[in-house]
Amino acid sequence: MKSALCSRFFILLPWILIVIIMLDVDPRRPAPQLTSRPYFSPHAVGCGGSRVPLRRSIPGRDAAEKRNESRPQLQPEPRLPTIYAITPTYSRPVQKAELTRLANTFRQVAQLHWILVEDRATRSELVSSFLARAGLPNTHLHVPTPRRYKRPWLPRATEQRNAGLAWLRQRHQHQSAQPGVLFFADDDNTYSLELFQEMRTTRKVSVWPVGLVGGRRYERPLVKNGKVVGWYTGWREDRPFAIDMAGFAVSLQVILSNPKAVFKRRGSQPGMQESDFLKQITTVEELEPKASNCTKVLVWHTRTEKVNLANEPKYHLDTVNIEV
Ligand code: UGA
Ligand code: MN
Repeated sequence: MKSALCSRFFILLPWILIVIIMLDVDPRRPAPQLTSRPYFSPHAVGCGGSRVPLRRSIPGRDAAEKRNESRPQLQPEPRLPTIYAITPTYSRPVQKAELTRLANTFRQVAQLHWILVEDRATRSELVSSFLARAGLPNTHLHVPTPRRYKRPWLPRATEQRNAGLAWLRQRHQHQSAQPGVLFFADDDNTYSLELFQEMRTTRKVSVWPVGLVGGRRYERPLVKNGKVVGWYTGWREDRPFAIDMAGFAVSLQVILSNPKAVFKRRGSQPGMQESDFLKQITTVEELEPKASNCTKVLVWHTRTEKVNLANEPKYHLDTVNIEV
């Protein structure tokens, strides 16, 4: 009897061992990553177009992880707030060049979603194919500026920024807000990578200096004891928020909890759009100064010179059709 049990045990033993070994191998565990990745490009472009920065895991979070404690493995980073950059853009000879510069910057920023809004009745082929190859999570919107508002003395891009805001609100209407930060990124400005690190920690509304604007080398919020107390500017100091569109960011939470805050055409003048919008969502006392208490310029209000097309033929003369 005893020897029969014993022989059964020895027959079953290898099978038990095989089962134990198989249970211990987790097929979902990715292969260990051997090279470390630099800070600004730690992305995998996911199927939803979202970029997931990768890092080695913090061991011992749960039992399953504990088993593999000593083995290096990839885990998603604790979610960085997504930066939503709303860019109004319109058709002109330099458009593709501007968008190329912008995409080259944005591609180096983790967890950035580009909301590109064309000032047109339909999406253009140029922008569509550009975005398809840009390698950036993006949303392509379009809305034309009514003809009566296309005047040099009137504010620009009101309808386009509002379309971007509407998209953001709609996308997040049913879910509790994921951490996110909104920033209005005109297509002709110049953005340092440091700027995105600064704005990502925005709790409500953050501000910083802007270079080459307002007829001065820079404009900036004046900060005392960590609070904004005024503005260094050479133009319309009476503005409640004397700041350019490129000088602030707003948390997604603030955008969602103020669903009526939009850019207004009625009564608005160029240079007042920022104040009109910010007045609806915050106060000067509440602003969060970034860029070392607003003492560093990390974004420049550059403007591209109008191109000289004096020698461009009236009718197409070349043998090929080239997109510029
Ligand atoms: C300044 C501010 O920096 C802008 O944020 C503000 O919208 C603008 O004044 C204003 O007066 O409304 P500025 O350099 O004069 O900027 O304006 P642009 O760069 O010519 O236009 C701002 C954005 O709107 C750009 O992204 C541009 O591509 C877009 N835009 C401009 C349109 O979508 N449609 C237009 O007809 C003109
Ligand atoms: Mn501009």
